[in-house]
Amino acid sequence: MVDKVAKIWMDGKLINWDDANVHILTHTLHYGLGAFEGIRSYKREDGSSAIFRLEEHMIRFLDSMKIMRVKSPFDLNTLCRATVETLVVNGLAEGYIRPLVFIGDGAMGLYAPNNPIRVAIIVWKWGAYLGAGALEKGIRAGVSSFNRHHVNSSMVKGKICGHYVNSIQAKYEAKDAGLDEAIMLDTAGYVSEATGENIFIIRNGKLKTPQFGSAILGGITRETILEMARTMGYEIEESRFTRDEMWLADEVFMCGTAAEVTPVIEIDGRPIGDGKPGPITKAIQSRYFDMLRGRVRDYEEWMTTYTIE
Ligand SMILES: Cc1ncc(COP(=O)(O)O)c(C=O)c1O
Repeated sequence: MVDKVAKIWMDGKLINWDDANVHILTHTLHYGLGAFEGIRSYKREDGSSAIFRLEEHMIRFLDSMKIMRVKSPFDLNTLCRATVETLVVNGLAEGYIRPLVFIGDGAMGLYAPNNPIRVAIIVWKWGAYLGAGALEKGIRAGVSSFNRHHVNSSMVKGKICGHYVNSIQAKYEAKDAGLDEAIMLDTAGYVSEATGENIFIIRNGKLKTPQFGSAILGGITRETILEMARTMGYEIEESRFTRDEMWLADEVFMCGTAAEVTPVIEIDGRPIGDGKPGPITKAIQSRYFDMLRGRVRDYEEWMTTYTIE
C-alpha cells in the first residue's frame, strides 16, 4: 500500500489526496496512451533534501509527450516548481515522485485529439524497490520468455504507460518462478533491460551496457552511472551483448531510479562471479549513495534542494 499524503498536484493545483479521482471514460484507462516518470528525493547528511536530476526527468516526461503527439499544458519550469511544492506541502523530506500525464474523458475511440490532457504529480514514501536486502545482498534474475518491445512497434524512448504491460507480464513470470526480477531480450535476441531497470555487466574490470540506440529506455540512472564510472577510471563499452555473455560476467548490476544500484548475483540459475555482490558494483553503489546523501559534493548540478522545517 502506498502511504497516503495530504495533497496531490493535479492540473495546476494542489488538491486533497481523496479528491484526485478520474472518470471511468478517461481515455488513457482504456487505451494506455499516457506517460509517467519516476523520480526520487533524498534527505542529505546536512539536513537538507535534494531531488535527483529533476530537470532531466521532466525533460524526458516532455519528450514522452512529444513522442505521443500530446501537447503539454505545462512547461518545464512549472513542472519542476510543482514537484518541489508538492514535496514541501506534504512535508516529505525524502520520497518517490510520480509525474503522470494522461488523456482525460471526452470522446471515445482511438482518435480523440480534443480530449483534455491532464497532468498529476504524486509523492509518497518508498524504500528499496526490489525488496529489503536487495541493495546489500543482491537479487536473483532470469531471462524472460517475453521480448522487450520492437523499436518500431513501441516507441521505447518514451516512458509510456501502455508499454508497462510488457514489463508486468515479465515481472509476474519472474516472481512466479521465485525470482526477484526479469531480464528481457530485444527482438533480435540481445540483452536489453529489466522490467524497470537498465543493466550493466562487468568482466575483467570493464563495464558494458546496451547502447542508448537499442530497445532500452534511456535511463537517467544509467547515464549517471556511466558518468561516475568514467570519473572512477573504469573502462566502459556501450554495446549489445548476449544472454551467455551475461552468465560469464564477473559482476552484473541493475540500475534505475526505483531500484537504485542493485547487484545481481544469479541469472538463469547460474551464479554471477562468486555469487555475491562484486567489488566494482559495490564501489559504484557506494559512490552513488554518497552523492545522493550529500557526502560527495561533485554532482551538485544534479540536485534540486529544498528544506522541510
Ligand atoms: C523499462 C525501464 N528501463 C530503465 C529504467 C531506468 O530509468 P531511470 O534510471 O531513468 O529511472 C526504467 C525506470 O524508469 C524503466 O522503466
